[in-house]
Amino acid sequence: MTGFSFAVAATDGAARTGEISTPRGTIRTPAFMPVGTAATVKGVYCDQVRATGADILLGNTYHLMLRPGAERVAALGGLHRFMQWDRPILTDSGGFQVMSLSQLRKLDPDGVTFRSHVDGAMHRLTPERAMEIQGLLGADIQMQLDECVGLPCTDEDTARAMRLSLAWAERSKRAFEQQPKGRAVFGIVQGGAVEALRIESARALVAMDFPGYSIGGLAVGEPQDIMLRMIETVAPELPVHKPRYLMGVGTPDDLLEAVGRGIDMFDCVMPTRSGRHALAFTRFGKINLKNARHQDDPRPLDETSDCPALRDYSRAYLHHLIRCDEMLGPMLLSWANLHYYQDLMRGARAAIAEGRYEDFKAAAKAGWARGDL
Ligand code: GUN
Repeated sequence: MTGFSFAVAATDGAARTGEISTPRGTIRTPAFMPVGTAATVKGVYCDQVRATGADILLGNTYHLMLRPGAERVAALGGLHRFMQWDRPILTDSGGFQVMSLSQLRKLDPDGVTFRSHVDGAMHRLTPERAMEIQGLLGADIQMQLDECVGLPCTDEDTARAMRLSLAWAERSKRAFEQQPKGRAVFGIVQGGAVEALRIESARALVAMDFPGYSIGGLAVGEPQDIMLRMIETVAPELPVHKPRYLMGVGTPDDLLEAVGRGIDMFDCVMPTRSGRHALAFTRFGKINLKNARHQDDPRPLDETSDCPALRDYSRAYLHHLIRCDEMLGPMLLSWANLHYYQDLMRGARAAIAEGRYEDFKAAAKAGWARGDL
């Protein structure tokens, strides 16, 4: 069985394209990972997700430990079999979702105790249990347990959370060593919007020698320029031969800016969540299908696309589905948006390989600015 590895094939400025190899398949980078929180990419079949070009999905420890339970998923053959996706899966560790979803939680140096947002039952996550759950799910790429603070935040609290995350990184890595070969665990760089703390975090994690590094604690309400400055601070600290994953990001514009600063992997609910809210991401920018201006428009979202959801259905029909609250509307728009995000990553990979990434980025932005008229 081959293990986990990453190879950069080409660079263009700070941007890189390459491949992550795992026993379950290859991940072409830069990669966008559709979010399959509860063992489903909401409203889209796995076959369709794959056909958009996705090489890897993201799942969530927090949701799956509550429902249906990690031991149950393991007894049923693991998350891949459970959801009928046989390619790589990355799981988040749960800490971030505890902080954003649970109304009642208490953090201590050993872990976090929280009340389930589903049924009110109490649960506990420690670094060891977070890794055990991800192991039971059978995730190919796993995340250390961390604490992410919202922004803005005092420097003192940012430093405390970052240092707690470093202690949890060590424990997560040690606990992960029990698992079968071929899987990987990533350390998560924290440190809020404080450059010195980001550098301290990155250097300490690099010294622990993880197979990959995530950048967390961003896209939590800060302006884009702060996020980009933090990427510029952290990326040069990370080893060139390890993958870099920017967690929870972002808009198409965020993705292109982050790729240009050396990021290899992304995940975000935006394409599917926006699709459920009638918003389409296209070459021409965002199109809100709720708007009555689409009701007589026979044009598809993008006649040049090879995705049926973008190419074959009229804007009038999509608008009609949304107005009537028909479930095919969110399904088609989620599919279309995932395809557009994968198109962007395909374009980015080709442009980096050919040394024209800045031109590619400028052309994409010009398309969004021009609009669809
Ligand atoms: N998803 C988005 N941001 C974060 C983060 O900082 N930590 C974790 N674990 N997941 C995230």
